[in-house]
Amino acid sequence: MTALRIADGFQRGAAVTFEVDGSPVRAHRGETLAAALMAAGIVRLRHSPRDGVARGAYCFMGVCQECVVRVDGVLRQSCQVGVEDGLRIELRGSV
Ligand code: FES
Repeated sequence: MTALRIADGFQRGAAVTFEVDGSPVRAHRGETLAAALMAAGIVRLRHSPRDGVARGAYCFMGVCQECVVRVDGVLRQSCQVGVEDGLRIELRGSV
C-alpha cells in the first residue's frame, strides 16, 4: 500500500523490501522504519503491557518509546532505524 506517500516533488531513494510478520512491505531507502510502516498503513506497532491498548509511533524522534518493535530479533525504536532490504520486523509480541 502506498496511499499515504507523497507522489511528486522530490527524489525517492532506491526501493527496498522488508518483512513484517512474514509479509513483504516495500519502502524507499532514506525512510525510517516507523515512517515506512505508517506509509504502508501499519500503525499499531505494539500493545501496552499495562492495559493491552494498541500503541503506535508518536514523536518520531526517539523520545516516547511508543514505536518499539523487534528488528531482526532485537527490540529497537522504529523511528531510529533506516529501512534496508531484508529487515525482519516482528510486531506480534514486540513489547
Ligand atoms: S515514535 Fe517516539 S521514540 Fe519512536
